[in-house]
Amino acid sequence: MFRILSIICLLLALQACKEPVQKAELESFVVKNVIHPSNNPYNKDKVELGKLLYFDKRLSLKGDTNCAICHSLEIQNSETSSVPRNQIHKSVAPPLTNVALYKDVFTDPQANDLEEIVKERVHTALMLKDEKTIVTRLNQVAEYRDLFEKSFGSPGITMDRIVKAISAFERTIISKNSKFDRYVMGEESALTPSQKRGMDVFMNKAKCNQCHNGPNFSDSTQHTTGLKGITQKIRTPSLRDVSKKNEFMHNGEFTKLEDVVNHFVSGGSKGSIEDPLLKPAAITEEEKKDLIEFLKSLEGESHPLEMPKIPRA
Ligand code: HEC
Ligand code: HEC
Repeated sequence: MFRILSIICLLLALQACKEPVQKAELESFVVKNVIHPSNNPYNKDKVELGKLLYFDKRLSLKGDTNCAICHSLEIQNSETSSVPRNQIHKSVAPPLTNVALYKDVFTDPQANDLEEIVKERVHTALMLKDEKTIVTRLNQVAEYRDLFEKSFGSPGITMDRIVKAISAFERTIISKNSKFDRYVMGEESALTPSQKRGMDVFMNKAKCNQCHNGPNFSDSTQHTTGLKGITQKIRTPSLRDVSKKNEFMHNGEFTKLEDVVNHFVSGGSKGSIEDPLLKPAAITEEEKKDLIEFLKSLEGESHPLEMPKIPRA
């Protein structure tokens, strides 16, 4: 049956048959919107305040680092910090792009929501450990006093408000309008022929979507991924903007996208712990190239993250 279909496809000059993945099915992969929780509703002032805090080194113990240095790809290459980026848990800091789209499963499985993990972060050794110092530091800045009042409707700087503002800002770091999204929404020419073939490999031949599914290309579930010597399960990361990275996997094991794809296509390295969903895929070199091209189509519209002007004391 399949063979007959392929012959018909060849006769029909391929075009119509190249897309076994239905558009309707693909639509579930598009980012529609991000939900801001009712206990921390969106408002523009709060998001702007959160952005300032995200960039403000006052939040670090020695005043030498900020969240952005570790978490924003744009900043990592331009800003230097005396703090090594991987000081926490010896792992590569994930970009916070689309962090709101993980279904409440963060790298820390104990955390219930983004607010909780942000709070925990602010409390690490690198950042300010104690609530009093951080609140006092910010309280000394008149502009912050005004901004907190404007954002929350009443005066007062508290840890809870700091955490809420940063979380509200983080929910706005979304990668959208990628070529893939535009294609799914009807712009036929947004993907190159190679990317369309790569999408088929991703969905059907290599079944990457068993784990990388939904609008964030992540099932928000932890898996082992066949890295040598690693028994720990890692949450499936989003693949949006993945081609902008230069270190891959939680431990920075790979520096080239080609190497990551080779790793997954071959079902992980020999002798490592295997996830039942991780199987070698029989695909050609050409299909591997197409798959990489498809991953590139997941790059969102670039919206340079501008360094805000940090309020002076
Ligand atoms: C020195 C680097 C560093 C700094 C500074 C830093 N982080 Fe992180 N962050 C990490 C690393 C590494 C991870 C992932 C591993 C882990 O959970 O420890 C992480 C994880 C997170 C996560 C969970 C992400 C996910 O996908 O589950 C959030 C949210 C977060 N950080 C927010 C912040 C905020 C907010 C700040 C500033 C107050 C901050 N981080 C400062 C390195 C850093
Ligand atoms: C069993 C579930 C599973 C399957 C199947 C799977 N992945 Fe992954 N993928 C993961 C997990 C989990 C990670 C994170 C591993 C880590 O950080 O050590 C990951 C990481 C990646 C990364 C690196 C992302 C980053 O930010 O570092 C890429 C690229 C990737 N996968 C592509 C693919 C492709 C292409 C396929 C299909 C050939 C595929 N994956 C199949 C679960 C899966």
